[in-house]
Amino acid sequence: MIRTIEWTDEGVVMIDQRLLPNEEVYNTYQTAEEVAEAIESMVIRGAPAIGVAAAMGIALGIKNLSTKDHLEEDFAKISARIERTRPTARNLFWAIERMTRLFEENKNQPLEKVQSVLTTEAITIHREDIEINRQIGQHGQQLLSKKMNLLTHCNAGALATAGYGTALGVIRAAVENGKNIQVFADETRPCLQGSRLTAWEMVKEGIPCTLITDSMAGYFMKSNQIQAVIVGADRIARNGDVANKIGTYSVAVLAKEHRIPFYVAAPLSTIDMDTPTGEEIPIEQRDTQEVTEFMGHTLAPAAVSVANPAFDVTPHRLVSAIITEKGVVRVPYGESIPALFKK
Ligand code: MRU
Repeated sequence: MIRTIEWTDEGVVMIDQRLLPNEEVYNTYQTAEEVAEAIESMVIRGAPAIGVAAAMGIALGIKNLSTKDHLEEDFAKISARIERTRPTARNLFWAIERMTRLFEENKNQPLEKVQSVLTTEAITIHREDIEINRQIGQHGQQLLSKKMNLLTHCNAGALATAGYGTALGVIRAAVENGKNIQVFADETRPCLQGSRLTAWEMVKEGIPCTLITDSMAGYFMKSNQIQAVIVGADRIARNGDVANKIGTYSVAVLAKEHRIPFYVAAPLSTIDMDTPTGEEIPIEQRDTQEVTEFMGHTLAPAAVSVANPAFDVTPHRLVSAIITEKGVVRVPYGESIPALFKK
């Protein structure tokens, strides 16, 4: 079992995803600021894992208080710091909202009580995320046939969640159900979540996986070597538009051209009912060094101008189905997505 993030008596422990696959290093974080920096620098990444880290960061910040004198102000400062880390991942804001609601209900209790309630909630969010991923896996695997080659982009696996994964959770569930699944993993430039993380997870579990560069996806679709695409999501708008790792949109367009189903696997906590369409989803722009350098090596002339949007939006018309813990929804998403929240 892959341990992405855990609450311990010593602090919040996270596997340092920047070092994978070369080194398996676990760091312990003792303050909310340290957790915020870990999210920003992508020690931990993937929308659901970011949500768990946000909740644990808040719980840690409150646990470190020795007095209740400025409790509301302290809570607001801690949450605001965590909120500034990654703008696209809906689960970050979802987790902060959930922790804030609980804080409001308990803020008049003694400090120890507030601390224990928030700690318990963060641990609960972690546990629930794994259960939710297993449910997504069960729903999703029913869409897959007995023998199939699947393409995935970025890492939507155990490392991107509290465990098991969303898109890779569907793959895991299919394999557990005896299906013969071959994974094609896009390497996912610029941060290489596909080659460093997805390939690592698949190799670790013995699930057959072929690593390809992002530009090879069309070749493998055209030559009938891929029967479906499955990806995760960072934020899903109310109309079904999906923000996910940069390059996802290109894969969806290719899938459409080749009449290959394009599936998105995500928990309800990734769906943003307050965002009507993908147009309104904020896209994180990251440091251009991620494009111009890799592990200390310069890849481009210093004078060149560089862009580095971390995510793109796939319009809902390219999405064959969205797989959630409450079931699988399809067009018209304007009706099927709101219905999920009533189940
Ligand atoms: O920049 P990252 O690595 O946090 O981006 C992650 C993704 O785009 C994932 O596909 C998404 O968060 C879904 S993870 C279950």
